[in-house]
Amino acid sequence: MDVSGPALAQLPPGPSWPGIVQLGAWLLRPFDLMLHLRERYGTPVTMKFPQWPAIVAFDDPEANKEIFRGSSDDLYAGQANQPLGPIVGRNSLLLLDGARHLRERKLLLPPFHGERMTRYGEVMRDVARDDLATWPLDTPFAVQPHTQAVTLDIILRTVFGVETGAKQDALRDALYHLIRDFSSPGLMVSWTQRDLGPRSPWGRYVRTRDRTDALIYGEIDARRADPRPGEDIFSMLLEARHEDGEPMSREELRDELVTMLVAGHETTATALSWAFHHLIEHPSVQRRVQEELDRVMGDDPIDPGRSGELVYLDAVVKETLRVIPVIAAVGRVTQRPTTIAGIDLPAGVLASPSIFLTHMNPKIYPRPERFEPERFLDWKPTPYEWFPFGGGVRRCIGMAFALYEMRMVVATVLQRHRVRRAPGASHRPVRRSVTMAPAAGTPIVVSQR
Ligand code: HEM
Repeated sequence: MDVSGPALAQLPPGPSWPGIVQLGAWLLRPFDLMLHLRERYGTPVTMKFPQWPAIVAFDDPEANKEIFRGSSDDLYAGQANQPLGPIVGRNSLLLLDGARHLRERKLLLPPFHGERMTRYGEVMRDVARDDLATWPLDTPFAVQPHTQAVTLDIILRTVFGVETGAKQDALRDALYHLIRDFSSPGLMVSWTQRDLGPRSPWGRYVRTRDRTDALIYGEIDARRADPRPGEDIFSMLLEARHEDGEPMSREELRDELVTMLVAGHETTATALSWAFHHLIEHPSVQRRVQEELDRVMGDDPIDPGRSGELVYLDAVVKETLRVIPVIAAVGRVTQRPTTIAGIDLPAGVLASPSIFLTHMNPKIYPRPERFEPERFLDWKPTPYEWFPFGGGVRRCIGMAFALYEMRMVVATVLQRHRVRRAPGASHRPVRRSVTMAPAAGTPIVVSQR
């Protein structure tokens, strides 16, 4: 479905630049683009990318609420995620819609329940502690490769249940390459996804994917042949049953495991890099986090069970995801004519709650461009005012996991260290696959407190 011609003309105003220019601006500088469009055209604003439904972006909580609470039979999210298909697979939660999506989501939610977080929290803390031991002291270095390594290791251990050993190292290595080869921004649009041989970016990616899939299927078969109880999400999904009593198929398992890896690894790594950026730019915030850590944890290792007491750190994490949401927008494709906030949209339009523009809406957040964690201390935004994890029946299933992980990693680093900006470094946002990350891998300097 694609809206063009007269139907497009009836949508809210937007730029008349060629679609390819709009897409280029969105891929390279989404934040500047959105602020510019809001200033020039107001909101909602309509954008058009080549071979893509017309996008109508909203920044008003009431409109966001209507989209997030709309019927999942009328508003499809999976359709908007299709470019991820070649990596996550056709059974992926990200790509499914309607009843099948809801059924699959039911299977995936239990391992992410709040009370499991304390158990995962110990893994998160230990992985962060071990990686921190490798950070150079008092010398500039890029922290993003470290946040990537930490979040990858945490997912491998908590989701895949991978520990150490030759077989596990092979799987770890393969998953690492899978993510790396898919990270090129140019591969995020379907028309660059062509296999032109093993040396072409897509060709290289496809070969890596096939190798990785063979290892994942091997692991699924081995675990099915020799079931062992485990706390990891893989073990829980092997036990999960559809409503008709059937277990998940090999393909479903493969697709959902890779989905969690793709959806949860780089997003959290990038969000952590931004957290370090803000802590560097705001030394008084950093000191306040450290005072809180000293008060709650003292010299003892970070206790995941007491992380709920780190309220200021929680506010820092929330403000980090508000100011620069690593995913700038989500969208739902209308399946039939739909009215959102009084605006009539024909079928085939991507109604998009703009995470970034809503987070930058001065009616919700006074002086929205400022980093002020204090806003979250005595105020709780609605799910339509603060939604870095999207919303409604599609809200990120890893939200509690990611927020917990960010608190655990930052706490582990700041308990005994302080961070500052590497001389001359710029942390301007640049695209890393689906996320916007600080430039040059986020150069920082770490010292002992
Ligand atoms: C800071 C880290 C993260 C951010 C910012 C983030 C953000 C998002 C966003 C914006 C969506 C789309 C929601 C929508 O369309 O309304 C999403 C979906 C999803 N996320 Fe996350 N995510 C993060 C971490 C994770 C983690 C750690 C996992 C799993 C381990 C995960 C798994 C998923 C899955 C499976 C979906 C699809 C949900 C569905 O379609 O029903 N994410 N995430």
